[in-house]
Amino acid sequence: MAPSSLTTLLVLLAVVLVAHGSDPDILTDFVVPPGTNASLLDGTFFTYAGLIAGNSADPAKFTVSKATAAEFPALLGQSVSYAALVFGPGTVNPPHVHPRASELLYVVQGPLMVGLVDEIKRELYAQTLQTGDMFVFPKGMVHFQFNGGADVARAFSAFGSASPGTVSLPVALFESGISDAVLEKSFNVDEATVLALEHDLAPAAPAPAPAPDSPPAPKNGGAAPVPACLALMVGFAATLLLL
Ligand SMILES: *[C@@H]1O[C@H](CO)[C@@H](O)[C@H](O)[C@H]1NC(C)=O
Repeated sequence: MAPSSLTTLLVLLAVVLVAHGSDPDILTDFVVPPGTNASLLDGTFFTYAGLIAGNSADPAKFTVSKATAAEFPALLGQSVSYAALVFGPGTVNPPHVHPRASELLYVVQGPLMVGLVDEIKRELYAQTLQTGDMFVFPKGMVHFQFNGGADVARAFSAFGSASPGTVSLPVALFESGISDAVLEKSFNVDEATVLALEHDLAPAAPAPAPAPDSPPAPKNGGAAPVPACLALMVGFAATLLLL
């Protein structure tokens, strides 16, 4: 084999390896759900009207409304999905990973801070996005979004999988039943700290909306629970990546 052919082959192989992990191809144009008579399908099968309605009516909260294969079966086999995100003032979408998809986030009402942890460089890429900005979170990388402003922020995200999956680091670490001893050793903290984190993460009433004329919460300092928790989580994410 000529060296140039070998090079081409290696490049193709690399491309194939990099592309591995996407949704499997289907052998039909679309997937008819079991028990459905295909000849009775119409446009409603390809329509999903629940995206915006899936967000909470309370704009003080962080809510995400998904349109993945679970909510919208016509996406099965199509390798795409979508989400609508609403961020109340001071709310965060905590550090998480989508194991099966890259995410392309588009801000329709900014500003919105986003961050992405590079596990090779052990570095945080952070950016404050303005209305109209787009940001890509590569597949499998730890990332978060945070609205540090006094107004609601809104965004839409497209995913390169019909079932991107979400692994929330706070939930995976502190709500999964990992023993306190393991967490204490892992983060080199005492039991009280682990218990406090587990307690903080327990489902609770949403934070009250700030009074209309109250100043936005400070971005730093122990008095601001969300930013403090966020900083801790990003630190934990970085720690995890070092292990
Ligand atoms: C599917 O619907 C068509 C049109 O109504 C009907 O002719 C056919 O018998 C149905 N097939 C099944 C398996 O029910």
